[in-house]
Amino acid sequence: MNSEKFHIGLGNNDSSIRDSAKKDYISFWNECAKSLSWFEPWTETLQWNPPFARWFTGGKINASYNALDVHQNSKSEKPAILWEGEDGTDRKITYHEMFIQVQKLANVLKSLGVKKGDRVTIYLPMIPELPISMLACARIGAVHTVVFSGFSATSLSDRVEDSQSKVIITSDGGYRKGKIINLKEIVDESASSVQFVKNVIVYQRTGQDIQMNEKDLLWSDVMGSASPVCNAEVLDSTDSLYILYTSGTTGKPKGVLHGIGGYLTHLYSTYKWAFDIKDSDVYFCTADIGWVTGHSYVVYGPLLHGATQVMYEGAPDYPDSSRMWDIIQKYDITIFYTTPTALRMLMKFGDDVPNSFDLSSLRLLGTVGEPINPQVWKWYFDVIGKKKCPIIDTWWQTETGGMLISPLPGIETIPLKPGSATLPIPGLDIQVVDESGNEVEPETKGSLIIKTPWPGMLLGLWKDEQKYKDVYWSKFDSVYYPGDYAIKDSDGYLWLLGRSDDVLKVAGHRIGTAELESSIVSHNEVAESAVCGIPDEVKGESIIAFVVLKESAHSSDEKLRTELRETIRTQIGPIATPNQFYIVNKLPKTRSGKIMRRLLKAIANNEKIGDVSTLEDGAAVSEIQSAFDELQKNVQNQQ
Ligand code: WTA
Repeated sequence: MNSEKFHIGLGNNDSSIRDSAKKDYISFWNECAKSLSWFEPWTETLQWNPPFARWFTGGKINASYNALDVHQNSKSEKPAILWEGEDGTDRKITYHEMFIQVQKLANVLKSLGVKKGDRVTIYLPMIPELPISMLACARIGAVHTVVFSGFSATSLSDRVEDSQSKVIITSDGGYRKGKIINLKEIVDESASSVQFVKNVIVYQRTGQDIQMNEKDLLWSDVMGSASPVCNAEVLDSTDSLYILYTSGTTGKPKGVLHGIGGYLTHLYSTYKWAFDIKDSDVYFCTADIGWVTGHSYVVYGPLLHGATQVMYEGAPDYPDSSRMWDIIQKYDITIFYTTPTALRMLMKFGDDVPNSFDLSSLRLLGTVGEPINPQVWKWYFDVIGKKKCPIIDTWWQTETGGMLISPLPGIETIPLKPGSATLPIPGLDIQVVDESGNEVEPETKGSLIIKTPWPGMLLGLWKDEQKYKDVYWSKFDSVYYPGDYAIKDSDGYLWLLGRSDDVLKVAGHRIGTAELESSIVSHNEVAESAVCGIPDEVKGESIIAFVVLKESAHSSDEKLRTELRETIRTQIGPIATPNQFYIVNKLPKTRSGKIMRRLLKAIANNEKIGDVSTLEDGAAVSEIQSAFDELQKNVQNQQ
């Protein structure tokens, strides 16, 4: 392990928080929850019927109320969102304006028959109408399910179907790398014809012509006539706030279900501890709201605190590699939260680019989504933070709701180690165990496990209790299994080493190998497929696919590759496109028929293969090896 330490903090040192959490984590979270506004207090802090945690039962609360209403006296004219379009247009939305818009939209949804517990799919680009839509749902107790606008028609319809959404909120399109992505067309292709979808609300972002169908309503029309007053529904702490679909090891993405009181308590607390948020801060998180980081640390975390944030619509390198630094300079950003992939990409352009901007407003930097390489951490620290900003490497998941492992400069100063997410947040017991579930010695690789429930923890998986138990609670007895490898060093610092299952992290985006494989085999000339991730200098991991063709297949390899790329783009989305398709005669399998992904990875990485004695047919290994060698030669010839 890299033992270099950086002693840098923000001068905060409040050991009482860790002390009280250590004494009794339930009383600790009980105190934390009091920072929120409740209509009625809870009767029990935690109902823990493993593996189901229900926080603050009996308490009555509303997320939209806590994000907006509570700021209307002191902060109504404070900007909630400073929005910058990819095309350079900008908008400022104050807490008061947001309050009005959310109430209007909540009334629109009500008038369309949306009631407490109904689902609403939101398929929007990064524009203020996205958080407005989420909060309008939250206001009336509807469950929002946001679908990342980079996902395709099939992904969208899968999610609309599974959640049985009554209404879809979308836009004519959004800008990405200078091009318009036509979201309304994708909705038309996939979901508007579904019987249970009653209406589609369409916001006009790009001004292009919109094909309006029977169910479609223009945002500007319905909002124009809506009343600006809609009181927040009094909801149970344990009612559902949202479903967010995420990839797992098997099958289609699953709907992670989050509640209200626990989730908000977790976000309120971690946003304060990790970011040391102050009224004067200008916060900028580059995550798309279509992923959990956007839900938790673009929408709920900052709004609960009445923070001002910059929201950016487009690609981080558009129109050129200086866009992020330009935004930091333009808005005097004080807190910047991004991904290792974005940093690796920006780092490639050289130091002169960020050095030609005034980044002196920055006081805290963060990363999320994948392991950060120590050299990238140092670049971030030296070149972007000018050695004066602590870096918070935050580990968490869609399921955890908020950060679980991270430095917390808002409460304490601990030495930072590049590449380590450092310590669990207060109230969490996180360990590293071997295959039998026993804690390993320090400095030894094992599986990360979580022994205590936490308030941001998922309520469960949408409509699939059994899967919830199987995926997270069955590998080790009575502990939560996130699916990550980790090492705890001799100082107790945690180093996250990537996924231990078949989930990929490509440019920080979570993608399941099973979804990719089923998309590939949906091509009528493909018999079988296996997908794995290989290290990628910028994206952390990139996808490669091994494909076995049907005997009847007749297309040329090149044609097939083009078609397979297209299949994945239309069934999942461009982010899931493999870098390479290797066409092989056989896949290496164990005797029980399981594909040996480890082997594929080793071949693709030019590594030694190791023990293959459990292979069904040893010949397949050499076949794949030679197919790979040949293809690699091909690729080299083409470069
Ligand atoms: C990975 C993203 C190393 C991890 C918030 C986890 C990380 C998965 C880090 C969840 C980090 C997230 N260091 N790995 N700081 N943060 N991960 O659900 O493998 O999109 O299990 O949530 O991302 O991805 P998800």
